Amino acid sequence: MQRQAQRWQRDGVRIVLVPTMGALHAGHASLIRRARKAAGKNGIVVVSIYVNPTQFNDAKDLRAYPRPMAADKKLCRAEGVDVVFAPKSLYEKDASTVIDETAVSLGMEGESRSGHFQGVATVVVKLCNLVQPTAAIFGEKDWQQAALIRRVARDLNLPARIIVAPTMREADGLACSSRNVHLNKSERQQATALWQAIATARATVRKGALRGLKRRLILSIENQPAAQVDYVEFFDEQTMQPVNPKKGTRMALAVYVGKTRLIDNGRL
Ligand code: PAF
Repeated sequence: MQRQAQRWQRDGVRIVLVPTMGALHAGHASLIRRARKAAGKNGIVVVSIYVNPTQFNDAKDLRAYPRPMAADKKLCRAEGVDVVFAPKSLYEKDASTVIDETAVSLGMEGESRSGHFQGVATVVVKLCNLVQPTAAIFGEKDWQQAALIRRVARDLNLPARIIVAPTMREADGLACSSRNVHLNKSERQQATALWQAIATARATVRKGALRGLKRRLILSIENQPAAQVDYVEFFDEQTMQPVNPKKGTRMALAVYVGKTRLIDNGRL
């Protein structure tokens, strides 16, 4: 991959990377379209498919992660992807180097999933070294991840431009996610509670009735029998620091619906 990427680099070909863990869906398709726009007609769009073990803090979650490679390749072909980069393994057995970001990755996902962002930052830097992209595309659904990658790219002078593309949603507002396939019919209905909570928070900051907002949102989500809130957080989009909710701040939340952990976020 790296040798081929270097050849393209030498010939001045633009390379745009969409890093994924596979189980591709409409959200990924929209990232691929954004990549094509950035690459232009003559550029190369690379989709990497690699279920990165170092970002899972739960072995069961890693084992259960869906891996429908044939369907993924089909989607890539239909979307006009030039290269699917699907390495079997990316780590030496005795690999001993990691990327540890120490500000943006604290709190929320960083707090709930110990080691997760170290794994994400490390694999994204490795993928960028292998694919040598001019630009790399990430989804806004993983807001904290996108903020982390922007920070790592800035701090380590990665040559790739980091582009963050909007979240794709189902008709009822549920954010597209590879984990949605784990939801049964009833859980799938209850999962709309995440988007509804964001919509409620958005309406509430406009009315100004902010007292106890977080508690009220948690209660309304947990009104769904299968839903259990991991966190609801309001934060500044630039610093990622927790702030009181008001117009323009961002809200993020993580909720277990049955055994499936879902995340979402939106600007208030
Ligand atoms: O968002 C994902 O799918 C993963 O965290 C990423 C960025 C591909 C790194 O493994």
